[in-house]
Amino acid sequence: MATASAAYWERLWADGRRYRQVTGAETTLLAKHLGPGRRRPALDIGSGDGALARHLHHRLGYRATGIDCAPTALALAAAQDAEAEPGPVWQLMDFTSGDLGELLEPAYAAVTCRLVYRWVDDKPAFLDRVRHVLAPGGILWVVTELAERREDTDPLKKLGITGADVEFLTAGWSVVRTADLDLLRCYALQL
Ligand SMILES: C[S@@+](CC[C@H](N)C(=O)[O-])C[C@H]1O[C@@H](n2cnc3c(N)ncnc32)[C@H](O)[C@@H]1O
Repeated sequence: MATASAAYWERLWADGRRYRQVTGAETTLLAKHLGPGRRRPALDIGSGDGALARHLHHRLGYRATGIDCAPTALALAAAQDAEAEPGPVWQLMDFTSGDLGELLEPAYAAVTCRLVYRWVDDKPAFLDRVRHVLAPGGILWVVTELAERREDTDPLKKLGITGADVEFLTAGWSVVRTADLDLLRCYALQL
């Protein structure tokens, strides 16, 4: 499938589609690989209804920004903010084409991307843009299905990235760490 447009995602969110919940096992891995935020900035690309960005912000102590190209997703995320406790910043942006200068921070200690990378058509350009916004020593955290984890006959095999995608994703980083969660693989990639 070609890159899914903002209109495609917006329609899914508006029609009530929701995605795999962030589990305790996943947040344990996140904490292990990203470490405490100490109020450093984090950017969650394709933040959806905001669960991961909220976790980064409220539990790990990052100053999180969630960006998404679907207005309904961002509205759902913002609706869960508690008035008493400032939450993540929510920003409407298509990361593949938006002006990175419009991001609040020039660089982020952590960039996260959960169940999004598979849908990026131009992966080289996407990763260039990620490297542009990562602070020196910063970590890119990618959570994705792997196609190889499903049978060829499984119609959901298309949800996973291919072996070639994996090779490309993991090339050119000084540190590459991985962790597995059933159908998902988590990548912690460090500049
Ligand atoms: C499968 S959902 C995952 C949402 C969330 N990360 C989660 O784990 O629940 C993919 C999300 O990425 C967003 N998205 C896809 N491509 C994007 C892009 N180029 N820029 C910003 N958001 C994007 C979609 O709008 C959607 O909310």
